[in-house]
Amino acid sequence: MNVNPEHAAASAVYQHLIRVIAPRPIAWVSTVALSGITNLAPFSFFTGVGAKPPSVLFCPANRRDGTPKDTLRNILDTGEFVINVVPYRLAEAMNLSSAELPPGESEFELAGVATAPSDIVRPPRVQASPACLECELMHHLALDAGPGGANIVVGRILRLHLDESIMNDTGQADAGLLDLIGRLGGTSYCRTTERFDLTRPHRSE
Ligand SMILES: Cc1cc2nc3c(=O)[nH]c(=O)nc-3n(C[C@H](O)[C@H](O)[C@H](O)COP(=O)(O)O)c2cc1C
Repeated sequence: MNVNPEHAAASAVYQHLIRVIAPRPIAWVSTVALSGITNLAPFSFFTGVGAKPPSVLFCPANRRDGTPKDTLRNILDTGEFVINVVPYRLAEAMNLSSAELPPGESEFELAGVATAPSDIVRPPRVQASPACLECELMHHLALDAGPGGANIVVGRILRLHLDESIMNDTGQADAGLLDLIGRLGGTSYCRTTERFDLTRPHRSE
């Protein structure tokens, strides 16, 4: 099969992309609206960018009606967000929080997710998430306007919160203790319980 995105519907291209770009980590993003209402939503078009500056990016697409999702709106209005990681035990709550709610309602309440205060930014952390990154907006790039239009949000990490429960003897976060999930295509997810090691032939970083 050979797909030319120029001759395919964006929705069809999306269905191919989410299956072959996998597994994807999930940024569970908390924000606060100018009104003070908190917002929480998952985004799996997400990755780290680098350590200098410490940075992450994720990609909230526009809604079907062409308007920005609440997460993007809040970040553009306030310049702040928190990325919370998602272990297996929080999968159901993460999924619940992806419901599209009117701007006046909080997914924290809908999904029964307790908050913890952040150190620097206004959006709260997900209390039960074992690793949370407080971020300030560095760049917003809109790749297209209108329905489904792609956006890139780049954030500078101001603070990393790493729960003691995930730290190993050498002071590093441990994959087994984290038990993170990844998103595949459709409704499928994976766990990180089956792992293997590879030694690098040449160390370049
Ligand atoms: C696991 C998962 C990953 C998702 N990843 C994305 C994504 O990368 N980009 C996106 O625009 N929407 C993504 N969504 C959908 C958003 O979470 C959903 O549109 C949500 O309602 C946005 O909330 P907001 O309007 O409060 O920002 C994802 C949903 C789930 C369950």
